[in-house]
Amino acid sequence: MGKLTLGIIKPGAIQRGHREAIIEQIKAAGFTILAQKDLHMALEQAENFYDVHRERPFFGELTTFMSSGTVVTLALEKEDAVAAFRELIGATDPAEAAAGTIRRRFGSSVGANAIHGSDSNANAEKEVAFFFPPGDIPGNL
Ligand code: RTP
Ligand code: MG
Repeated sequence: MGKLTLGIIKPGAIQRGHREAIIEQIKAAGFTILAQKDLHMALEQAENFYDVHRERPFFGELTTFMSSGTVVTLALEKEDAVAAFRELIGATDPAEAAAGTIRRRFGSSVGANAIHGSDSNANAEKEVAFFFPPGDIPGNL
């Protein structure tokens, strides 16, 4: 099982002041933060990150939102990290996410759903590499 996943705390959650509470919940769930970075993505960077969704009807809304303010990117380590993190964040729509999940607690809509999590081990590797040079990740020189 892969041990690595990528989380991104999205602009809405940062603007509503939930950054620290979200990071606390991630740590309390047993994840180790290998690397963490604040950034404000350019539209083109958000488009490249979400390239798999380019043909989806929500692509413009998604990439505009993700480049609208500061995000926090997190390279996270835990046993079976991708599945464990998807469980912690909950369903895409906060209204459908299980009680206590990050999206249920801190999301406000499908678009502004507080946090991103990688959906496979292969994508986790790609997504961590998208934001962090190899030297930023301990044990991955
Ligand atoms: P994420 O990639 O952000 O962890 O979310 P996810 O896997 O649960 O959902 P995905 O299907 O990958 O969609 C990526 C993000 O696009 C936004 N979205 N908007 N308006 C809509 O119908 C719609 N559908 C998806 C969400 O913010 C979702 O997190
Ligand atoms: Mg996804």
